[in-house]
Amino acid sequence: MLTLDDLPAGRRLLVRLDLNTAVENGDVRENRRFAGHAETLARLVDDGHAVAVLAHQGRPGRPDFASLAGHADLLADHLDCPVGFVADTHGDEALAAVRGLAAGEVLLLENVRMTDDELADRTPAEHAESALVRDLAPAVDAYVNDAYSAAHRAQASLVGFPAVLPSYAGPVMTAEYEANGAIARREFDGPVTMALGGAKAADVVRAIDALADRVDRFLLGGVVGELALRARGHPVGHDAAGTDLFDAAWAETGAELERVLDVHGDQVSTPADLAYADGSRRAEVAVDAVEEKTVAYQDVGTETLMTYAPVVRDSAAVFVKGALGVFEDDRFSVGTVGLLEAVADADCFSVVGGGDTSRAVDMYDLDPDDFDHLSVAGGAYLRTLTGDRLPAVAALERAARRMREEHA
Ligand code: 3PG
Repeated sequence: MLTLDDLPAGRRLLVRLDLNTAVENGDVRENRRFAGHAETLARLVDDGHAVAVLAHQGRPGRPDFASLAGHADLLADHLDCPVGFVADTHGDEALAAVRGLAAGEVLLLENVRMTDDELADRTPAEHAESALVRDLAPAVDAYVNDAYSAAHRAQASLVGFPAVLPSYAGPVMTAEYEANGAIARREFDGPVTMALGGAKAADVVRAIDALADRVDRFLLGGVVGELALRARGHPVGHDAAGTDLFDAAWAETGAELERVLDVHGDQVSTPADLAYADGSRRAEVAVDAVEEKTVAYQDVGTETLMTYAPVVRDSAAVFVKGALGVFEDDRFSVGTVGLLEAVADADCFSVVGGGDTSRAVDMYDLDPDDFDHLSVAGGAYLRTLTGDRLPAVAALERAARRMREEHA
């Protein structure tokens, strides 16, 4: 991949960042991705570039699918300079704003997943022919991708632009790519444990399948943990009491989850108990005592943590991806924070990944130095551990080859 060291100064740039984060009741919550990408933008501003930023938030149909207007303010706080925003991606308003950018100015375009093109199931060559790419690419001189944490997605803004523009990897992209690649090649002298939570069941199923010969124990929590309990026949893991996360995820991954548990089930631990809100208090119930799901479970229970923590302590390496509960609410931080504290205390090599999980480290004042690597990526870091090529990285590599050939 070519990097910013190869990029001539004073260009008009399209920069793909990953600002995907938690959005609660319309409020955008900050995570570590913002600070990292702000450093990238500061460097681009210093080098006299005019910068248009493309990013996504959530997915259509999910509760966190939202405009990026609030993300622009958060970025501006980190950058200490204004970040403009237009509620458009590749229409006339966006194109005029991108063309009107002066050197040193930064503009955030609207959530790229609001276009039909971004999530369409297409090859990189087809994405390069999309209206998004055909409209925006001529308005800029070059493309920079700093979105390592989205690099496992073969979407238009990640693989389409590098096919048609001079393209460069940003510093977050290169640092994470190198660190996670090196970690993937490491061998450990002792048990390897992976704690997997969050809501992205497809990423977790794929990781268990691909890593079962290198990971001794998988500890599950979060939405994924509850879905795994459903796969094991418990009456949980479906939508009840106002949630709308489980049934769609089950329709997408339930059969695969059952298959993976059939094959690798003896390596997979699921929660023994779950926590929920009883009025303003936290209450817990043993999974075996649940006859019918009538409440929303928001954390793993204390018994689960007591089972998971010793596994962590006895490990030579621990990889964490995804939260075990809704840690933003202090009552339901027990699983996520308790597990991270166990990892921090353990004498093991440790990696903590995921936008949300890295946010928990900051929210609960855990010491980042207690972990060997804190990745802003979740799915992309798991995918790197499995040895799979990341489509966005492959697209940058193809662009670099093409650019070298053009200059040969
Ligand atoms: C992430 O938050 O892991 C990345 O932004 C990818 O998001 P996605 O899982 O919605 O594609």
